[in-house]
Amino acid sequence: MRINDKAAARLKELGTELRQGVSLAGETSLGIGGATDEIILRRRETIPDVMRLLADENIPNRFLGGGTNVLIADGELPWVVLHLPAAKPGMRVEGNAAYVDAAADLGGMVTFCAKHDLGGMEGLIGVPGSVGGALRMNAGAYGTQIGPHVREVELYRAASGQIETLRGADIRFDYRHTSFAPDDLMLNVKLDLPSKPYKEIIEGIKVCNEKRRLSQPLNQKSAGCIFKNPPGGSAGKMIDELGLKGHRVGDAMVSDRHANFFVNAAHASCSDMLKLIDDVRERVHDAYGMELENEVIVWRN
Ligand code: EPU
Repeated sequence: MRINDKAAARLKELGTELRQGVSLAGETSLGIGGATDEIILRRRETIPDVMRLLADENIPNRFLGGGTNVLIADGELPWVVLHLPAAKPGMRVEGNAAYVDAAADLGGMVTFCAKHDLGGMEGLIGVPGSVGGALRMNAGAYGTQIGPHVREVELYRAASGQIETLRGADIRFDYRHTSFAPDDLMLNVKLDLPSKPYKEIIEGIKVCNEKRRLSQPLNQKSAGCIFKNPPGGSAGKMIDELGLKGHRVGDAMVSDRHANFFVNAAHASCSDMLKLIDDVRERVHDAYGMELENEVIVWRN
């Protein structure tokens, strides 16, 4: 979608950066996605004005974080994309509290905190993406989830049109799901982390990295796990048992390393990937009588 000249001029006045006709394939870990205009929210305090302007001008919009857990439609997209500018490093530590920008890299945060002898997040080390995305999805791996460490979140709330601060205790963090509204935009988080010697944290990090290296297709384009695990079960195990590793639609393929990772083997389109997801979901349903739910977020046009 193209932003009209009048809105573009006003957006510039509000301190945003506009990028026209950006291919989102270049901004997602799957390497899939069509084209649209992109707005970089360079001034936090003007976010409410930016959102009001987009609403007044009837410009549909979506917020893209690290792009590591999203499958985006092909072609010309009917909405513009909002982005926070890169945060480098975008974090600081005070005692047991870590203050982190939503745009910061999740893995970078784990190692930054480790250097300050703050642990508890080792399991998250290889989870790709931004801290904001991890918050929204309550990212987790190897027994660690980000949710329990959250003390405060600053966010833009579409419901009020304002920047607000929520206490961790008032946010529900479930398995890959939170009580944030779909149009809440994470800005920064305060985490409370246990003290732990750097050396011990690094040992934990090494163990997780090794487990991940052995079980996941780290050097291929993917969005991590495609389906949520059903209660008490494993989607990857079920898909594997059906002999579907390597199964493909066009260049969208079930990883031959981990069956709940679907990879873009070369030039997969969103439509290939969606067909593969539906096909696998149906086969699992036929074999196990179980309807797998998407873990990956799908942006259709
Ligand atoms: N398994 C197979 N074949 C496969 C994949 C897995 O038999 O192709 C078996 C494994 O041998 C193991 C069981 O299934 O016995 C579980 O596998 P794994 O330990 O790899 O964990 P998972 O349940 O498939 C979850 C998360 C991952 C996270 C890992 C490690 C979900 C949907 N997935 O995977 O998160 O990295 O545990 O904690 O919750 C993600 O969210 O995108 C993601 C990748």
